[in-house]
Amino acid sequence: MQQQAFPRYVLLLSLFVAFANCDLRNNEIDRCHLDDSVRRAIRSHKDVVDRIVSATIDGPFKGSTYNNLSLLVDKFGSRYTGSQNLNDAIDYMIDLGRKQNLESYGEEFLAPYWIRGNESASLIKPVRLDLPMLGLGSSVSTPTEGIVAEAIVVSSFEELDAIGPLAKGKIVVFNQDFVSYPATAKYRSSSADHASAHGAVATLIRSITPFSMRTPHTGSQFYSGKYKKIPTASITVEDAKMLDRRYKRGEKLIIHVKMESKSLTTTTRNTLMNLKGHTYPEKLVMISGHLDCWDVTVGAMDDGAAAVMSWNALAILNALNLRPKRTLRAVLWSGEEQGLIGARAYANSHREDDLTFVMESDEGTFEPIGLEYKGPDTGACILQEILSLFEELNATKLVRSNDVGSDIAVLTSRGIPGASLYNKNERYFWYHHTNADTLDIEDPDVLDKNTALWASVGYIIANLNVDMPKK
Ligand SMILES: *[C@@H]1O[C@H](CO)[C@@H](O)[C@H](O)[C@H]1NC(C)=O
Ligand SMILES: *[C@@H]1O[C@H](CO)[C@@H](O)[C@H](O)[C@H]1NC(C)=O
Ligand SMILES: *[C@@H]1O[C@H](CO)[C@@H](O)[C@H](O)[C@H]1NC(C)=O
Ligand SMILES: [Zn+2]
Repeated sequence: MQQQAFPRYVLLLSLFVAFANCDLRNNEIDRCHLDDSVRRAIRSHKDVVDRIVSATIDGPFKGSTYNNLSLLVDKFGSRYTGSQNLNDAIDYMIDLGRKQNLESYGEEFLAPYWIRGNESASLIKPVRLDLPMLGLGSSVSTPTEGIVAEAIVVSSFEELDAIGPLAKGKIVVFNQDFVSYPATAKYRSSSADHASAHGAVATLIRSITPFSMRTPHTGSQFYSGKYKKIPTASITVEDAKMLDRRYKRGEKLIIHVKMESKSLTTTTRNTLMNLKGHTYPEKLVMISGHLDCWDVTVGAMDDGAAAVMSWNALAILNALNLRPKRTLRAVLWSGEEQGLIGARAYANSHREDDLTFVMESDEGTFEPIGLEYKGPDTGACILQEILSLFEELNATKLVRSNDVGSDIAVLTSRGIPGASLYNKNERYFWYHHTNADTLDIEDPDVLDKNTALWASVGYIIANLNVDMPKK
């Protein structure tokens, strides 16, 4: 997942919604007055759910999401936007879809193509020590010989603003504590801009994670255009804390940073697959995950598993001859890591009216719990009723959230209701955007449960007697 730069009013709105966040199962279920015909229509899907679940968790599709994911990550390696690997992976997924008689095609768009190049950081004084680092996406390069400068260490933007002029000519190290991803990722996305405003020459940020084995985490950063663009990279949690200790003891820190990055533009494609609706083929329900990932990882967790799961959900429904009333569309996004570029391209080239509901999984595919939902109350009641069919998977819980998915945030911010996979993802940020995001994080049986849930919920929503309500 990647952080979106939200406009101020959305932040205010999310504060408001955070208070309204609640577990419907406990405190809103009584207020759910679902129309009887809708309730009956949902309950009539119990047999279909049982068929999908048993075919997926102990029938012919057992292990198929994991096995297909392993083929994808081993065959293509890193699927970085702009790379030949990603282009080949897109062709491969389109081909897989076609072999299963799903209408499958790519939709092209322009995206930033940032090339990392060689990069390094080392502490020069008071001792020599290499600092494992990863440049942040869209960062400018350093001069060829790199930058050697004195470093200062701060723990927040407020602290930096308070010491303002002290940052001039320095490398600013951010040693912010991890609070939560949305609260802490701003240090990754805008520390260069903040420090440049005070005349700094480069920034090194503590990786955004609650746990570390001295592994740096990359991610996108953005320049506002108001200040000089300075190079920026992440270092490990351990090293940020070590530099902070030294700085507080009064040691004079000299750091050498070298980056050879380049910023280009590329064309890439979102991958679309359709299971055509039999009654309202023009109406769409979307299930999705992003196929692209960072250059330093094979992205099994972020977000290969969900991309494969979204394709496989259609493949399984098709193989079981389950065709819903509305079209169920799987989208395997591209350009997500560069700032939801694929989702913005999609939103700009498709009719919003046709989209009745959007789903994306981009916060892990660990043990499923249920769904996170953003949309009107009646929709929550519908989803709550649908989830009650998933006792067998222990995935019956619905929570309201203003922050569903990553790509689909572009669509939900335009008023289309949506949901994300709610799962036991406490370890997600341990691996996020690192070279440790490998297949080993994923569990075949858990992926089967998630796939069964994804396929079934997508099918029911696409097959209901009513559209999911919009605002
Ligand atoms: C990949 O998924 C398809 C569709 O579910 C399945 O038929 C096939 O067996 C899977 N491949 C492997 C290697 O499991
Ligand atoms: C990185 O440096 C090595 C050794 O100097 C060089 O061979 C290689 O081409 C460089 N890689 C890039 C991407 O510039
Ligand atoms: C659901 O949870 C129960 C109790 O924790 C457990 O025994 C069961 O195996 C779980 N079912 C699945 C499908 O994970
Ligand atoms: Zn992601």
